[in-house]
Amino acid sequence: MWRPLSAIVFLVAIVNPLAETRHRDQLQLDDYLDYDGVMEYLDQLARTYPDRITLKDMGLTYENRSLKLAMITNGDGRLGKRVIFMDAALHAREWMTPVAALYTIYKLVVEFEENADLLADFDWHIMPLANPDGYEYSRKTNSTWRNTRTPNVGDCIGTNLNYNFELGWGVGFPELKDSCDENYAGSAPFTEVESRTVRDIMHSLMQSERGVMYLSLHSSIRMVFYPWIYDSKPLLNEGEHVEIAKFVADQIFQSSSTVIRTWQYGEEFGGTSIDYAFYVGFPLSFAFELSGLDHNHVDHGFFPPTSEIRRLADESWTGIRAFGKKAIEKYPPSRAIHQSQEHRTTENSATRTWGLDPVV
Ligand SMILES: *[C@@H]1O[C@H](CO)[C@@H](O)[C@H](O)[C@H]1NC(C)=O
Ligand SMILES: *[C@@H]1O[C@H](CO)[C@@H](O)[C@H](O)[C@H]1NC(C)=O
Ligand SMILES: [Zn+2]
Repeated sequence: MWRPLSAIVFLVAIVNPLAETRHRDQLQLDDYLDYDGVMEYLDQLARTYPDRITLKDMGLTYENRSLKLAMITNGDGRLGKRVIFMDAALHAREWMTPVAALYTIYKLVVEFEENADLLADFDWHIMPLANPDGYEYSRKTNSTWRNTRTPNVGDCIGTNLNYNFELGWGVGFPELKDSCDENYAGSAPFTEVESRTVRDIMHSLMQSERGVMYLSLHSSIRMVFYPWIYDSKPLLNEGEHVEIAKFVADQIFQSSSTVIRTWQYGEEFGGTSIDYAFYVGFPLSFAFELSGLDHNHVDHGFFPPTSEIRRLADESWTGIRAFGKKAIEKYPPSRAIHQSQEHRTTENSATRTWGLDPVV
């Protein structure tokens, strides 16, 4: 039975290779992809749209997986455009976050025409799996896993990447120091290749004066956060952060009636990636906590049923698009991005102050 059938499939593929390619360029939204699935999808888009998406291996994890960055442009050949830098799944178990990152890539690359405004003067650099070892472990072995898979001193494994950045590192609560706890901040700042890689991308975007907004995807408490998290003092441009956060929440509420709260957080704990991004000079920095609600408003936390993925991906995109639109409106090429060091943080003995040329 299989022979005639495969012959037909083979014929269809020959007769209509374009339809076949178009089909493969669609993002699968009926299940969560694993690491290989994410890499294959990125490779597929890079093959079909080589002038709009470039992939770069930024580093190798402890278990030798690639920290892959997708760099997206509109293909007009202009170099040095401003950049929106987004990452996902710093926390392994937040399964909707790589979906939202890949869906953003799909929207910007495949549905390029509808979203051309987001790429006219800006490129987007997106890392859909910022903690691939942890993600794979969460998908295959222990779904609630949150950290990296690097062994610690002693028997325990893994560091929480969102406490492993340098600004205010280790400040907060006792579990940050417990190498067996899911809140372990590491034995020092930047012990993990994953946080170092995100840091190095931030530094290079600031050195080339391209980085405008850092957006870090988390789930599932339906919030938008902005710095500082390690300190209660407001940002100098807090007003811009508040306005953008409220715009995002409003766009989502209008389209799906999901309520997204907006918040500084303030003096809770140190070592987060969004504080660090603002500190090194991104004028805009946000964490976007996606929703885990199903269509009946039942909260599934980190693991929404697969039948809800498509709807939640659409909702995430509404938010991410709103972030992009506002960032672009606030920081047109005519407006300088450079902030003076004093505006980023007041110096104090607990934190070291970076210039723009520290670690590359
Ligand atoms: C990663 O690759 C290196 C070089 O091939 C190898 O020595 C190492 O054992 C690998 N690590 C793991 C955890 O597989
Ligand atoms: C799974 O991971 C969670 C979060 O790190 C941890 O608390 C729990 O002990 C792990 N479960 C097992 C069976 O290892
Ligand atoms: Zn998180």
